[in-house]
Amino acid sequence: MKFQFFASIAAALCLSANVGAAAFDNVAPMSDTDGNPVNCHGGGILKVDSVYYWYGEHRPGHEANYQKGVSCYSTTDLVNWKNEGIVFEKVDDPSSEIQKHCTIERPKVVYCPKTGKYVLWFHHELAGRGYEAARCAVAESDTPVGPFKLKWSGRVNPGVYPMNMEPRQVKGIVPDEWWTEEWFKLVDKGVFVERDIDGGQMSRDMTVFVDDDGKAYHVYSSEENLTLQIAELNDDYNAHTGKYIRIFPGGHNEAPVVFKHGGKYWMVTSGCTGWAPNKARMMWADDMLGEWHMVEGKTPCIGPDAELTFGGQGTYCAEMGGNLVFMADKWTPKCLAGSGSLWLPILFDREGTPVIPFVTKW
Ligand code: GAL
Repeated sequence: MKFQFFASIAAALCLSANVGAAAFDNVAPMSDTDGNPVNCHGGGILKVDSVYYWYGEHRPGHEANYQKGVSCYSTTDLVNWKNEGIVFEKVDDPSSEIQKHCTIERPKVVYCPKTGKYVLWFHHELAGRGYEAARCAVAESDTPVGPFKLKWSGRVNPGVYPMNMEPRQVKGIVPDEWWTEEWFKLVDKGVFVERDIDGGQMSRDMTVFVDDDGKAYHVYSSEENLTLQIAELNDDYNAHTGKYIRIFPGGHNEAPVVFKHGGKYWMVTSGCTGWAPNKARMMWADDMLGEWHMVEGKTPCIGPDAELTFGGQGTYCAEMGGNLVFMADKWTPKCLAGSGSLWLPILFDREGTPVIPFVTKW
C-alpha cells in the first residue's frame, strides 16, 4: 500500500511530462495573454478540437464593480490563456431575470451533438433575493465563444417525484425545529422535496456530466443544500427528462465534481461552509441514477492541508493534456475576482480509489 502511495505521487510528478513546461502553477496568480488577472471562477472546461475553453463566473473586482456574466478563456497549450470576453452577458433591463444584479454561479458548458449547440448551465439567483430562488438556468450558443442566449431559468422537474423516494409520506409537514434527530428523519423521507414539489426542486451548486454513451446529467445541491440530486437531461441537453434521484439526504454536500474511471462514477464534493474551505468527500456508483456509496471518512486529498482541500473547493474535473484534473477555487470573499484556482491531478490507488495530491507546479 505504502509503495503504491509513493508510486502514485511519483506518477503525479511524471504527469508534468504530458504537458511540457509547468502548465499550471497552483501558487502564483494566473494572468491571461494580455497580462491581466484571469477572472474565471467556479467553472469548467470544454475541449473543442484542439482548443480548451475555460468558462467561469466573472466576479466584481479588477475591472468592474458588478458581476458581468460568464467569462471564457481559451488555450491550445494549457499555458497561454486568451481572454474570449463575457460569452453570456447579463442585461441592463431591471425587469429581466438576468438583469445585472442577479447572481450567476458554477457555469458549465457542454456541446450537444444532436443540436450542434453549445449549452451553458448555471446556478441562477434572482436580483435582491439572496440565495432563495435556488434556480438553474440554461443558455445556448452556436459557437463555443458565445453569445449564449438564455433559454430558461427555473427550478428542477416541477410536479415530479424522484425515482428513489416514496411520495406523500411527509407531505404538508413543516418542521419547526431544525437539526434534531426527528428533523433528520423528515429530511431523509423528503420533507423538502414535498415542500417544493409543485414549483420544482431547488438547485444551487451544480455541475453537468456527459457520460460516454452521450447521456447528460445535472448534479446539484438541493433541498436547502441538504441533499444532492442527479437529474437526467434530454437529448438536446437543455432540459430535464423528469428522471431524477436524491442521494445522501441530509448529507450537506456542495460543489459536486463528477468523473468516470474504470467503469465507475465518482463524485467529489465539499461540505457546506460558504466560501471557507472544508474537507472534501468522495462517493461512487456503478450507475449515475443508481445507488451511490460514500467512501466513509476519507478525503481524496493527500498532503499538507488535505483536510481543508488545500484551501480550495472543487468545481470540475477536466481531462487536460492526458490527465484528469481536479479544478478547485481558492475563494477570497473580500474580492471574489481575486480568488485563485487550484488544478490538481486525480490519481488512483491500487483499489482504484481517487487520490488528489498537492502539486505546486506541473
Ligand atoms: C458556497 C458555494 C459557492 C457560493 C458560496 C456563497 O458554499 O459553493 O458557489 O454559493 O457558497 O456563500
